[in-house]
Amino acid sequence: MPTVATEVGLHRGVPAALPAQAPAREDTAALPVVRVRVWDLPTRLFHWLLAAGVGGLVLSGRAGGAWIDWHARLGSLVLALLLFRLVWGVFGGRWSRFASFLPTPSRLRRYLAGGAKPDDEAGHSPLGGLSVLAMLGLLLAQVATGMVSDDGGGFTGPLNAQVSAAVAEAATRLHKDYGQWLLLGLVLLHVAAILFYRVVRKRRLLQAMLDGDKRLAPDRLVAASRDDTGSRTAAGVVFAVSLAAVLLVVGL
Ligand code: HEM
Ligand code: HEM
Repeated sequence: MPTVATEVGLHRGVPAALPAQAPAREDTAALPVVRVRVWDLPTRLFHWLLAAGVGGLVLSGRAGGAWIDWHARLGSLVLALLLFRLVWGVFGGRWSRFASFLPTPSRLRRYLAGGAKPDDEAGHSPLGGLSVLAMLGLLLAQVATGMVSDDGGGFTGPLNAQVSAAVAEAATRLHKDYGQWLLLGLVLLHVAAILFYRVVRKRRLLQAMLDGDKRLAPDRLVAASRDDTGSRTAAGVVFAVSLAAVLLVVGL
């Protein structure tokens, strides 16, 4: 049956226009839906560049041979993206900040008991937050072990000279034997969770990561993330500085 939900824009926490009379029935399909900017453009660009970069890293890593140079270049790009995200987790849009999705025990308990407040799940839910932090941590570890690695076939990571041969060997083993599989497991879980939310919980998480907006019922409204020319320019500067810092250190 077609839904009669209507969409109302919400920018930076100010409802553009809420319908004067919201239906009093408990028919959620008849409630007006308010679009709230949750993922600012920099966060969305970060996400899709990260997914493409990690895909390229897995392919180039497994291809080996001459591809290892591209593997290292992509690794530097992904490190710059991760550094950007760490800074954006403090200064970025409201729902991109780590503080907004830290999976604290009380948030997790509330969420698992079905009593999540609107703020608990406007951005990443507490469970989503756990998986996001795990992915970011593992990606940083994977870059770090790659940077000091030695493949035994003539390629060494740009920071290999800074560590002993034993550390390089252990790091390379972690990178190859554990890191790649752990990461693959987390990414599969990540995509499966998004499918689960779509099919079982009827939530369109992917749509929000594409156009930035969540569609919220009026009784679940939250303040919007800032996403204007000023914040986007600031994000560009943060990314440029992150990339420059990485290139300075790895000497590419
Ligand atoms: C998130 C970042 C990274 C991911 C996901 C990743 C993933 C992978 C994968 C899947 C392999 C193939 C392992 C196998 O042969 O089964 C690999 C190998 C390798 N990676 Fe990475 N990598 C990353 C970053 C880096 C970086 C930054 C460097 C160095 C600059 C690096 C250096 C290497 C080397 C040298 C190998 C070959 C090891 C060997 O065959 O002995 N990686 N990586
Ligand atoms: C290698 C592949 C991928 C990696 C490493 C990855 C990583 C991440 C990370 C780190 C976040 C948190 C974003 C942030 O707060 O900055 C995230 C969120 C998200 N990702 Fe991915 N992702 C990958 C692939 C995908 C794919 C293929 C999809 C599409 C189905 C997807 C859909 C999403 C969505 C919808 C969110 C927001 C989840 C929420 O609302 O809590 N991702 N991903």
